[in-house]
Amino acid sequence: MLNVKEQIAELLAEKIEGLEADEIGKLIEIPSDSSMGDYAFPCFKLAKLLRKAPNMIAADIAKEIEYDPMFETVRPVNAYVNMFMKKTNMAEITIGAIVSKGEKYGSMDQGKGETVLVEYSSPNIAKPFHIGHIRTTVIGNALANIYEFLGYKVLRLNHLGDYGTQFGKMIVAFRHWGKKEDVEADPIKTLLSYYVKFHEEAENAPELEEEARKAFYALEHGEKDELELWQWIRDESLKEFNRVYDMLGIHFDSYAGESFYSDKMPAVIEELKEKGLLKESRGAQIVDLEEYDMPPAIITKSDGTSIYLTRDIAAALYRKKTYDFDKSIYVVASQQDLHFKQLFKVIELMGYPWAKDMIHVNFGMVSLADGTLSTRHGRVVFLEDVLNKAVEKTKEIILEKGVNTDQLDETSKIVGIGAVVFRELSAGRIKDYVFDWDKVLNFDGETGPYVQYTHARAASVLRNGEFDPESLDPSSIDYSYISGEAASELVKELYVFPEAVAKAAEDNEPSTVTRCITDVAQSFNKFYHDEHIIVDNEDERKAKLALTYAAKQVIANGLGLLGMVAPDKM
Ligand code: ARG
Repeated sequence: MLNVKEQIAELLAEKIEGLEADEIGKLIEIPSDSSMGDYAFPCFKLAKLLRKAPNMIAADIAKEIEYDPMFETVRPVNAYVNMFMKKTNMAEITIGAIVSKGEKYGSMDQGKGETVLVEYSSPNIAKPFHIGHIRTTVIGNALANIYEFLGYKVLRLNHLGDYGTQFGKMIVAFRHWGKKEDVEADPIKTLLSYYVKFHEEAENAPELEEEARKAFYALEHGEKDELELWQWIRDESLKEFNRVYDMLGIHFDSYAGESFYSDKMPAVIEELKEKGLLKESRGAQIVDLEEYDMPPAIITKSDGTSIYLTRDIAAALYRKKTYDFDKSIYVVASQQDLHFKQLFKVIELMGYPWAKDMIHVNFGMVSLADGTLSTRHGRVVFLEDVLNKAVEKTKEIILEKGVNTDQLDETSKIVGIGAVVFRELSAGRIKDYVFDWDKVLNFDGETGPYVQYTHARAASVLRNGEFDPESLDPSSIDYSYISGEAASELVKELYVFPEAVAKAAEDNEPSTVTRCITDVAQSFNKFYHDEHIIVDNEDERKAKLALTYAAKQVIANGLGLLGMVAPDKM
């Protein structure tokens, strides 16, 4: 069953010669001002095709479709055809589509045959996996889910920061002061303390720096001892990262990080040289980007060691060759805007037209309002601690509310972690924001717990009404019972869900989905308060339970895309 926009597009395709339904679908808009209709079709593009003024085309189209039962009114306004949908009809189309598509409602096959890479999280090994990493991790996961939902083949990449001169320091520090058992008991915190100690000691013993350089050189040249030690540090770090990924329900297809690309750099340097792009500058090799108003891209440093950017060039070439991507997304903080601009420019200058398919999805910073979680005094806020605290706090709230739950631990986990995830995906990603427990865990605001609670409430209504979706035939429903204000508003939120998903992918902005399901939750709660759902009249009850079911399904689909669980009980 088609969703509303698809149905309008089909209808228009019958009337407009030379344009297919899917092209028309892409043109149809949802006006931000609802007095301009539920949907609007702009006719500018048709002017050339039909050799007529756009406002005349709009008038003609409006006349052609105005009696279709889908519409309440159709009005041409300038170059637009504004369409106001018939409420009961909208309910019928929407609920029909949701019942037949179920957990696939909102999905599309627009991405069929195309591959999208989503690189996200990418923490540095032996360094804290801290609150600053939450955004890339959660936004990247949501984007990967959304692209998959739209039919793309998606690969989830974790570009681990597992390479660089700091590992020379780590190796030296471990050799001097390290204990294997300590690292294994608490890898990152212990490794971090060695790193800090290294810097303290090196102030009075500069020879340590030289030792570290040697250790890194040995590592880079594949010396057995150094390599083994580094591998072990990587494994121990990954164990800890994976604990957090498990809590978040996140997985990756590849953990090929910076080290993986280190042996692919000489070829990059060679290619840059061949293409005449390399320049010598104070002992370093650079690509001059002055013409593009950017500082030079440094390819090798004066001591001959390679750097971050060079590994990213190698990674881009490798990924194109290996995955032949149609789109390659990097979910990385906006602090690295310049880095990615340089990277994409260098790839373009190398003559690769697919440079345009690389996208930096950036985001603003998180800071913490709660003093107990401050990063002052060098204290780092570990992401795992934040998640655990969210679960603890949620448990307290649930107990305080006296909610009767037989699965307190499980529910606290789902809701607590969900709350943090939801908060990350609530505001536009580019905004900086302050992490504030009261805003994260509020059960009444526009929060994760609120939306999850609404899902559980809908599930409970369906249980009480003994609703069986399997035996529901949408064509047997009397939709005149779904025409009250709250119900109609809810229907509208439900039918725009597929658009919200498509828009989220178009803008690489998962918060579009978050906002849509928050609206669904609010509309459902209004409907729940304004109307009796489980009434004696069988037809009315059936219609209202079907709407409840549709709302629950859309919330579940949306939460799933965000990477959250939709609980049936809370
Ligand atoms: N490891 C880096 C950091 O923590 C992020 C890596 C981003 N990805 C990339 N391809 N450069 O800052």
